[in-house]
Amino acid sequence: MNERKVILREDEMPRQWYNILADIAMNPPLGPDGNPVSPDQLAPVFPMNLIEQEVSSQRWIDIPEPVMDVLKIWRPSPLVRAVNLEKALGTPARIYFKNESLSPPGSHKPNTAVPQAYYNKVFGIKRITTETGAGQWGSALSFACAQFGLECKVFMVRVSFDQKPYRKSMMATWGGNCVPSPSMDTKAGRDALERDPNTPGSLGIAISEAIEAAVSDESGQTRYSLGSVLNHVMLHQTIIGLEAQKQMKKIGEYPDIIIGCAGGGSNFAGLAFPFVHDKINGKQIEIYPVEPAACPTLTKAPFVYDHGDTAKYTPLLPMHSLGHAFVPPPIHSGGLRYHGMAPTVSQLVDEGLITPRSVKQKEVFEAGILLARTEGIIPAPETNHALAAVVEEALKAKEEGKEKVILFNWSGHGLLDLTAYENYLAGNIKDIVLTDEEMAESEKIFANHPKPKSLKSR
Ligand SMILES: Cc1ncc(COP(=O)(O)O)c(C=O)c1O
Repeated sequence: MNERKVILREDEMPRQWYNILADIAMNPPLGPDGNPVSPDQLAPVFPMNLIEQEVSSQRWIDIPEPVMDVLKIWRPSPLVRAVNLEKALGTPARIYFKNESLSPPGSHKPNTAVPQAYYNKVFGIKRITTETGAGQWGSALSFACAQFGLECKVFMVRVSFDQKPYRKSMMATWGGNCVPSPSMDTKAGRDALERDPNTPGSLGIAISEAIEAAVSDESGQTRYSLGSVLNHVMLHQTIIGLEAQKQMKKIGEYPDIIIGCAGGGSNFAGLAFPFVHDKINGKQIEIYPVEPAACPTLTKAPFVYDHGDTAKYTPLLPMHSLGHAFVPPPIHSGGLRYHGMAPTVSQLVDEGLITPRSVKQKEVFEAGILLARTEGIIPAPETNHALAAVVEEALKAKEEGKEKVILFNWSGHGLLDLTAYENYLAGNIKDIVLTDEEMAESEKIFANHPKPKSLKSR
């Protein structure tokens, strides 16, 4: 391949999302009574059209035309060969990435923000509440709400709110209203502040605030939206992997290795799930979600039933979890500071179809700087976790003299994360590893929860 980028035409974009629920067995979410949650119980939180998608096991789901029209603002995203990185590492591996940093807010997040805003609009909802870690999701939903004429309120994890003030301005520009979390606006926020007035906040707390703000609106015209974890979010993100499959086919390539960073699991799932489908049907691929050693949900924490938020407003979800009250250390990757993981991603780990790995903060930023200096784009700190694993795999291929094909997801740019780079360049980034003692302490919280069954899909 002599060209650096593989570009699809707009009329070559996938017209359907891939739903992995057609191909794997899942434990159901459980309500407070220990029984599976019914769609009606979720109705105060989400619009019914999204709830139907959440529980659907139809393999291919049509992407509505109005959603396609907005996605076309930046999609299809290019598949790029990282030739400069290959040269810098002297590796025989061929390295490709999907560049998801080109969307208006700068990440993969609008791939689901746009359909979620659309389905809320169609259902007659006027206002959406949400949480945001890094600020990418809050920006994406503000952008999507502007496209469909909806109001948007965002609870942004305090530490990220302080680290990245311009994310708030970005949201405000699109008409979104962003407040730091925990806030005094909700009971969940006030309780968290009472427990610890100096808390850095967490995604778990911010999710509680956003759910509470939605369900307590008596007009019934507000719903909550989640930027990761849930099945319908993973579904919407599969446009990444489906495009990548077409692009790789155009140049006669197929990946041996797939890599994505994982916070709640959505950008990883978006790239990987269509290839997991291939793997279930016989392809040999190594698939790696990569997370911080400071918040090692998949690599260290058990597969349990736990709440998705700190105040226990969500059902019990079958997932790898560090405990719903766990407040991750304030690393510069707000999007990876989550105690849980998507149930679908957790299930694939349990079945051995994907293999999680963790990386430490210094190698993460080393890789980010290397990619910025070779491929040019300054990556989001979350993306740097994937990059650290890419560099490791490329060097392994060099050592073994193997021409591996590596495909990874460039989940976002870091142009509003420059405080993180400033800290790294000043030598102020520390490796933080969650200890077994800390983990044992935080896990006590789900000791009495029911246990998910070990299900095998094949
Ligand atoms: C750029 C970027 N990458 C990755 C993530 C992690 O989220 P997920 O695991 O859902 O892709 C985030 C979350 O905010 C993000 O902003």
